[in-house]
Amino acid sequence: MEKLAPQKKRIDGSTSGWSLDRDFYKDPEIFEKEKEKIIFDNWIFAGHVSQIPNAGDYFLFNLLEESIIIIRGNDMEIRAFFNVCRHRGSHVCLEKTGNSKRFICPYHAWTYDIEGSLFAARGMPDSFDKSNHGLHPCAMDIIEGMVFINFGDNPVSLENVKRDLAGPLKMYDFNNLKVAAHKRYPIDGNWKITLENYQECYHCAPSHPEYSLSHTFKVEDDKFEELQKPMLSRMEALGVGTHEYDYQFDKQQEGQENYACSRYALFEKYKTGSQDGKPLAPLLGNLLGYDHGALDINIGSFTYYLCYNDHIIVYVFTPTEHEKSACDIYWLVRNDAEEGKDYDLDKLTWLWNATTLADERIIVDNQKGVNSKKYQSGPLAIKEKLIERYIVWYLHQLAK
Ligand code: FES
Ligand SMILES: [Fe+2]
Repeated sequence: MEKLAPQKKRIDGSTSGWSLDRDFYKDPEIFEKEKEKIIFDNWIFAGHVSQIPNAGDYFLFNLLEESIIIIRGNDMEIRAFFNVCRHRGSHVCLEKTGNSKRFICPYHAWTYDIEGSLFAARGMPDSFDKSNHGLHPCAMDIIEGMVFINFGDNPVSLENVKRDLAGPLKMYDFNNLKVAAHKRYPIDGNWKITLENYQECYHCAPSHPEYSLSHTFKVEDDKFEELQKPMLSRMEALGVGTHEYDYQFDKQQEGQENYACSRYALFEKYKTGSQDGKPLAPLLGNLLGYDHGALDINIGSFTYYLCYNDHIIVYVFTPTEHEKSACDIYWLVRNDAEEGKDYDLDKLTWLWNATTLADERIIVDNQKGVNSKKYQSGPLAIKEKLIERYIVWYLHQLAK
């Protein structure tokens, strides 16, 4: 299909280094292709195991027309099922979170146990075989306590993600975190405008005064290296390992989910992502102190982590309609940390609440301009090189 061919040549003759053409944001047919090739074929963070500690505890993960039940069974294993009754298709679970001994479909009361098997179905003929009518499983994996799901029938492997990210994730003891806060930010913008915004810090200096006080990412590349030195000299003594991987987007390995991991410094006054530079929560894992650094991790194309030494921010970017999206932010702290004693929720959430509200504003304004007939692909800046890599990957995924 002509519309899905790689972008046409630009006015300077190049095909890369430019933002996407308007069709990619506006054409509903392309959105349908994206669902099939990207959105429903990508590992995505659904939650943390600490959210469902007991048998029967569950939560729903909803994405566009799909709804997934993530539940801990009587054997304490966590499973994921499509929320689709095997009778005539009703959602069987309507509450977003809860604890249940079984799911009774609200339509004709077919009843499923919490391991997904059909347990009772009224008035069916003798020939009906219940064992063939359990809830459809959804691909799910747990990476150091984080529940990832994939809606596809043949998902790419997480093997290399688990191998390479075990070190950094264990360093922060991801297995023993809890969700201190979770907030959804709805955004009136196509999911790619939302995702692209996260891939560059060209906008950080003008748009994020709070973030720019503490994070060195906004500085020009020539000053960036110098600012990393104090952090690099502290890391080893504090138990902070060096973990650098880049298999993101265009560097995705064949058959493997894409991922990356890299550390950078905060400005010297800042131990963590707080307003005053002071710690916000107890140190994570076995870390011995603050190296004034933060670790960026991504797993898949929709899930990003920013790991400070005392808390973790998880960002999950998803479409909610063709031209609407959402950013879900989770603030994770040590599982044994107590609110009010070990951390203050307002202080903990201050930075990324303010920053995400600003992002929402600029993304919405970006979408408004893209809606104009005069929007055309524009040249990317040096600090937007990751967007260029993402576009190469995106066009390749669509053409698969
Ligand atoms: S649709 Fe679920 S019991 Fe009929
Ligand atoms: Fe931003």
